[in-house]
Amino acid sequence: MLLRTLRGEILNPPPLWLMRQAGRYLPEYMKTREKAGNFLDLCYNPELATEVTLQPIKRYGFDAAIIFSDILVIPDALGQKVEFRHGVGPVLKPIRSEKDIRELNHLRLEESLNPVYEAIAQVRAKLSPGVSLIGFAGAPWTVATYMVEGGSSKTFNNVKAWATADSRGFDELIKLLKEAITIHAMNQVVAGAEVIQLFDSWAGVLSPSEFDKWCIKPVKEITARIKNKYPDIPVIGFPKGCGVNYKHYAEKTGVDCVSIDYTVPLDWIDEALQPGAVVQGNLDPYILRQGGARLVKEVQDIKGALDQRPFVFNLGHGILPDTDPSNVEELVELVRIG
Ligand code: CP3
Repeated sequence: MLLRTLRGEILNPPPLWLMRQAGRYLPEYMKTREKAGNFLDLCYNPELATEVTLQPIKRYGFDAAIIFSDILVIPDALGQKVEFRHGVGPVLKPIRSEKDIRELNHLRLEESLNPVYEAIAQVRAKLSPGVSLIGFAGAPWTVATYMVEGGSSKTFNNVKAWATADSRGFDELIKLLKEAITIHAMNQVVAGAEVIQLFDSWAGVLSPSEFDKWCIKPVKEITARIKNKYPDIPVIGFPKGCGVNYKHYAEKTGVDCVSIDYTVPLDWIDEALQPGAVVQGNLDPYILRQGGARLVKEVQDIKGALDQRPFVFNLGHGILPDTDPSNVEELVELVRIG
């Protein structure tokens, strides 16, 4: 289903999966995570990562599984210390100079990420043939924000200052990431991923010229390299929060599908984006959490506006951890039955 839509077919009902469909809102995830210890241990344990990848498929019958991992396995595999602290989120030893960049390398990249590939192979073997398996990576800009800021940020002061004051030096970091992300995406394909999604969650903090340089260009190169080797593998791009720049992104990057965040109006998606691109999105995860009549109306509105052209139903960002699993069940019925 998902693959047919990504190749341009119109399906009714549209294929459905949700960003962060495996995660803390599911009691069975919380149980498995307790067994694993910390979050990165869970990401690097192929048996447990397989189990949590399949949990939402068993519960809801989504059309695609997304491999359970994280965008920050890339800095970890490049040799930057990454920790997930309870109640804080990711904490990294910040990279602030070209000297810091030189301490990172690709030497142990594939070895470190091997558990992800093992999990992909195990998941593919267990999924029914009609359910697609999505591999993913963070896009260079978004991964760089975590690497330079040392974790999540509200201001992005350090990374923005570096990118503008010393764009040649910062580009060394982007180059390193482009290479690592391309290798990681291709290895996921070899292991059994049938689609690659590139998450650029912080694309929305870039001004237009920076957006072109740090978001569009690297994503275009990564996509071209994947497609050069694996022409049949669709690539989905998610440049969250980029507003009208979604149009440039869809036109210039070469991705097969753009994943739209929940701030973008449906009539604009319909008029400006959908004639040129397959789109995925864009229910507000807060509305899913809220449930009730508002959820019913939003799902109807999204389907009414977008399902006459190739369209993948998804959220406009990841499921919120305190979402009631029964709201997700209701969403599945609303998308599939109406
Ligand atoms: O189900 C899926 O979508 C697959 C798994 C997945 C995770 N993270 C698991 C996860 C995916 C695709 C991601 C992507 C990811 N990771 C992004 C891009 C998408 C987005 O949300 O914008 C980003 C920015 C990250 C980095 C990250 N990972 C942060 C900032 C955090 C801490 C904040 C938070 O949500 O807890 C994580 C942790 C994380 N990644 C969790 C999960 C299930 C929660 C970990 C836990 O406490 O169990």
